[in-house]
Amino acid sequence: MNQDEIKRLLGIAAADYIDPWLQVDAYIGVGTGSTANHFIDALAAMQHRFAGAVASSVASADRLKSHGIRVVELNEVSSLAVYVDGADEINPAFSMIKGGGAALTREKIVASAADQFVCIADRSKWVEQLGTFPLPIEVIPMARSLVARKLVGLGGTPVLRENTRTDNGNEILDVHDLNITDPAHLESQINQIAGVVTNGLFAARRADVLLMDLDGEVHTQQRRASD
Ligand code: A5P
Repeated sequence: MNQDEIKRLLGIAAADYIDPWLQVDAYIGVGTGSTANHFIDALAAMQHRFAGAVASSVASADRLKSHGIRVVELNEVSSLAVYVDGADEINPAFSMIKGGGAALTREKIVASAADQFVCIADRSKWVEQLGTFPLPIEVIPMARSLVARKLVGLGGTPVLRENTRTDNGNEILDVHDLNITDPAHLESQINQIAGVVTNGLFAARRADVLLMDLDGEVHTQQRRASD
């Protein structure tokens, strides 16, 4: 099976996994990326069983709508039972790096509104320590150089992502060389830098459930209560 076929399996498995949450008045939080796209495609057949979706990007909203799935703004819903999204890296505590697709800010907002975060990630995303994948940071354009200097002070090597504007009109710095031994602390520390909109560490709001492939089959893991 190639990687896209594995991602498709994960998307289908996620749609099955959230089945118990589907109710005619329930809204589903939907992530962004190639794995989330397969989840959206799998959701299409179930669309009569839930009220609609809150999307974490314009691209995901467009794909949902192309299937006829109703898309609503987060401001229109009072709760989200579940959020389903991919990751660029995930560690054993289910903290993640996200933002490879530049959608990290809306992803973090929608994820934080959901009771359950279901991560769908192929095995290449599993790491013992986060940080091989450069950490994406959304920055206000006028603050880009200031933020970059502060990130160098934290040991990072920021690189401006070329030809990229987020859905919010901002820029992305991809930060290499960070030693991420305490993801929650670093997430909070980077958020304190003026000009940072969001960083791609998802540790304060990490995944509750991970669907990941092993030998061509999807395995479901709940986050350990002790983590
Ligand atoms: C989007 O900004 C990201 O957070 C994605 O969720 C992440 O990059 C995973 O993408 P793929 O599913 O395409 O690997």
